[in-house]
Amino acid sequence: MSSISSPRHEQMSQFKVEQGQLLAAGYSMSEISQLLNRPAFYVYDRSVINQQVASFRQHIPARVKLHYAVKANPYWPVVEHLKPLVDGFDVASQKEMLLALQSGMPVANISFAGPGKGDSDILSAIIAGVTLNVESLGELQRICTLGAQTRNTPQVALRVNPAFELKASGMKMTGGAKPFGIDEEQVLQLLADIAGMPVKFRGFHIYCGSQNLKPESLIEAHQHTFALAAKLVAACPYRPEMINLGGGFGIPYFAGERRLDLAPVGASLQQLLQQYDTELANIELVIELGRYLVAEAGLYACQVVDKKHSRGTTYLVCNGGLNHHLANSGNFGQVIRKNYPVAIANRMVQTDLELVTIVGPLCTPLDILADRMNLPQADVGDWVVVYQSGAYGPTASPQDFLGHRPVSEILI
Ligand SMILES: Cc1ncc(COP(=O)(O)O)c(C=O)c1O
Repeated sequence: MSSISSPRHEQMSQFKVEQGQLLAAGYSMSEISQLLNRPAFYVYDRSVINQQVASFRQHIPARVKLHYAVKANPYWPVVEHLKPLVDGFDVASQKEMLLALQSGMPVANISFAGPGKGDSDILSAIIAGVTLNVESLGELQRICTLGAQTRNTPQVALRVNPAFELKASGMKMTGGAKPFGIDEEQVLQLLADIAGMPVKFRGFHIYCGSQNLKPESLIEAHQHTFALAAKLVAACPYRPEMINLGGGFGIPYFAGERRLDLAPVGASLQQLLQQYDTELANIELVIELGRYLVAEAGLYACQVVDKKHSRGTTYLVCNGGLNHHLANSGNFGQVIRKNYPVAIANRMVQTDLELVTIVGPLCTPLDILADRMNLPQADVGDWVVVYQSGAYGPTASPQDFLGHRPVSEILI
């Protein structure tokens, strides 16, 4: 049986190894486990988050503001840590909105996107003064009606579903029929009426997709986005305050994937800013990112509780799996399951390897942490870690499934 390759831990240079132990912010996995008194956890290293923000600031022109998409990792210490580092927050629910508000982020820099907003979501955003990224004509109607029940004028931006798509994306959210945003053609018609509506129209949200590692695809999408933005601004009854240009910066998860090179993306944005200098003058431009800022800062760690051999396969059975980390199991948007980078955290320099499949404690064949990987020979009590786990972790996982203990988190 051949092994399925994945990026080796040597390529994951964001965490140090000392005396054979993988360290997160200076702590080994068993130390973090003792610190938390928990056998399975996510650890997020704040210095890696800082590096990712710095990389954005280094390459992307300062004219483009950085917003954090809280959905990627809504763990309160992470949100609090990012508050002074970014220019705004994008939220996708009332709960996330409350986190953003309580972080002290100015309300003008918080936007609320996502289809299916309930009346209570809309009302709370209107009361708080948070900008609602409007996903449909019906939602806009409800915003107007609910706004009349409050003392505030609803702040709205129109989320546009353009005709183009973000090529080579993990998730495409525009082009063709989509539940997200209002079709570009309908937006152009709507703009004629927006001045007469009981809302404060702030601008546009043009979000094309997620998890993109190809600079040329992002550059092409930015070219289309700027052209569309200029067309929309020209059709506006008054000058909008802001345009969200989307995001989609990805991180490498799988073998053969390369880190996104932001230099050409930044250079192209600089060129577009010059080209559209007049059309977009005095309008705030925003890029919103989730996983790019936090995913590489996170490790998921769990412990081997059993080692067994079944008809030629060696299994390491751990105390956590899909219930803690659905994305790593391949059941959160992957078409074909691939291994995330995985290591045995307390045997980082051990050279005797063995082919293993690592599984979690759930009675389902979907509960796979690593499929046929060559890893240092491990035993009960050893620490399995999954890299690139700082985004879409606990909150994207079915923690109640089978009722095992929930996973713990720590930012250090
Ligand atoms: C509107 C919007 N903004 C931001 C994001 C965050 O994406 P990512 O974590 O890939 O940056 C998403 C992801 O689905 C999204 O739908």
